[in-house]
Amino acid sequence: MRILVTGGAGFIGSHTVVELVNAGYEPIIIDNFSNSDRSALDGLRQILNRDVIFYQGDCNDPETLNAIFEKESLGGVIHFAAHKAVGESVAKPLMYYRNNLDSTILLLETMQRYGVSNLVFSSSCTVYGQPEQLPVTEATPRLPAQSPYGNTKTICEDIIRDTVRSGAAMKAIALRYFNPIGAHPSGLIGELPLGVPSNLVPFITQTAAGLREKVTVFGNDYDTPDGTCIRDYIHVVDLAKAHVQALRLLDSQEENSYYDIFNVGTGQGNTVLELIKTFEEVNQLKLNYSIGPRRPGDVEKIYAQVDKVNNVMGWRAEKSLADGLRDAWRWEQNLHLKNSTVSG
Ligand code: WQD
Repeated sequence: MRILVTGGAGFIGSHTVVELVNAGYEPIIIDNFSNSDRSALDGLRQILNRDVIFYQGDCNDPETLNAIFEKESLGGVIHFAAHKAVGESVAKPLMYYRNNLDSTILLLETMQRYGVSNLVFSSSCTVYGQPEQLPVTEATPRLPAQSPYGNTKTICEDIIRDTVRSGAAMKAIALRYFNPIGAHPSGLIGELPLGVPSNLVPFITQTAAGLREKVTVFGNDYDTPDGTCIRDYIHVVDLAKAHVQALRLLDSQEENSYYDIFNVGTGQGNTVLELIKTFEEVNQLKLNYSIGPRRPGDVEKIYAQVDKVNNVMGWRAEKSLADGLRDAWRWEQNLHLKNSTVSG
């Protein structure tokens, strides 16, 4: 079955492409490289020992989408393509609303026009804001988003839900990711932040690689065991497999209209300092870090309750925090090996 993967050259998208092929699907990538790099396609070719069908283009362009839907008889869509930098979204809200909302609306319209009914949507735990109770379940109320980025995820979930409810023949699942980390164990694909990473793990690996002077821990005066924020860090390969499981669940639906939401996490929370210590232990190195002020907008603690994704979708995280931090470091090292051989 051919699956359109929007943003398929990106961090989570590329790892999902690997798992789609492993599960016998035929992924079709569309990506405009606005937050990814063409080198991901080389990594995919090496891992999969084959080329993946690829269209360079923008999900906001009707011509491009029509051409793909016209040519490829698609069995479903996984929609990753979106701007995703929280800080940037505060500075450029219109760019985020235009890009993230319009692409989702255009995709839904095109799917309807071509009778493609199955959609997996990349959402985020950011829709929960700072939850009153932990762990977070899918019934935990969404709170007003802390950023335009988070708000686009909330709004896109509602656009999809309302489209399904309108009676359109559509089956959709929204996956609310917690914190994706790590890289494919081959070290051939991974996270490629543009510029200075805002996410913790790429900042750690770039510091360990000597690209950054030190990691600043954003606050140690939170109400947590060691004072630093708690997150649910999920290995990107586990997360990729959740998308395959979601497609299988959609395929198994008798009804031709279905919408559901799943938290995709490990169910375990770790503090920033625990993550740094684990990184040092598994990679046997010393990381240069210091405690700095809180980062505005940060949620103090959030981690997933995973009963629903375990029992209804039949998926559970298999890799540990240590696996993720080991794989992230291998990827960072390979990046420099690759660049150094290239730069000669
Ligand atoms: C994790 C923890 C920081 C950097 C965001 C988005 C979410 C998703 C993942 C897109 C926090 C601390 C970080 C640093 C630090 N993005 N930290 N020093 O903010 O939980 O989630 O990225 O889908 O939607 O909201 O991830 O990695 O930025 O931060 O101390 O240099 O690490 O304070 O507690 P976050 P993060």
